[in-house]
Amino acid sequence: MAAAGRPTGTAAEFTVVPADRAVPLPDEASFDVGASLGVPALTAHRALTVAEDGPRRLQPGALDGRVVLAAGGAGAVGHAVIQLARWAGATVISTVSGPEKARLATAAGAHHVINYREGDPAVEIRKIAPDGVDIVAEVALGANLALDLAVLRTRGTISTYANDGGKPVELDVLQNMVLNTRFQFLVLYTAGPEARAAAATDVAAAVRGGALPVGEVHGLPLVRFPLNCTADAHRAVESGVVGKVLVDVTP
Ligand SMILES: NC(=O)c1ccc[n+]([C@@H]2O[C@H](COP(=O)([O-])OP(=O)(O)OC[C@H]3O[C@@H](n4cnc5c(N)ncnc54)[C@H](OP(=O)(O)O)[C@@H]3O)[C@@H](O)[C@H]2O)c1
Repeated sequence: MAAAGRPTGTAAEFTVVPADRAVPLPDEASFDVGASLGVPALTAHRALTVAEDGPRRLQPGALDGRVVLAAGGAGAVGHAVIQLARWAGATVISTVSGPEKARLATAAGAHHVINYREGDPAVEIRKIAPDGVDIVAEVALGANLALDLAVLRTRGTISTYANDGGKPVELDVLQNMVLNTRFQFLVLYTAGPEARAAAATDVAAAVRGGALPVGEVHGLPLVRFPLNCTADAHRAVESGVVGKVLVDVTP
């Protein structure tokens, strides 16, 4: 549960939130799944539903015939992008930085995994998607802008939810005019109540359909800490631990 807009943080056994932020956990889902969903899956949903030609909602078949590039597919949001895009019928390509993360992105469901530190990733992606990628879900826009534009199809969308690494972004206006690029920057908290509600409904359907499992075998290792070690949990996140950090509030 996110702390944004509330005076207290997330490590609490009981809390009060506005009703529209409380979503019933489907019976099929474990608490581990529930704790892993909130921000990453809703962010991934937004990233996949802002293209000019849709879809606005996700369900099986909604992304049939589309190619999605999930940058950093071993990350928490990247993992959810892969799972939701796959559930909705897309061909999913993911970039990763090495073999261990490749294994995770594949376990999450990516059809193709490309090491962005080796060879020419644009050439490899174009081999898979000669007409280009429809939607890029981007975690590091500054670092990946050249790659994204090299593989984006005309009128494709770059959905940007972070700029990890902090590299500045410099746009070639003419290149983007010619490509009719759609850049959509997104953060959940200002996406608006309609987008958040649609995302919660679709993500719940994906959970009921078994499309959003977590854990190492599904590409998202869970790293657990008891409540009294919450500071260690924060340190793990800050040090870039691979996977999802969970705090067990009850023993
Ligand atoms: N906009 C929003 O609403 C929203 C919501 C949630 C999270 N975020 C932000 O999104 C970012 C990721 O969050 P997360 O929870 O998914 O973090 P995470 O689990 O740490 O994953 C980040 C992933 O990005 C990858 N990465 C970093 N640089 C990359 C590059 N140049 N190319 C491809 N992949 C790259 C990392 O792998 P390698 O280092 O191995 O490449 C890692 O797998 C954070 O900055 C977070 O604050 C934004």
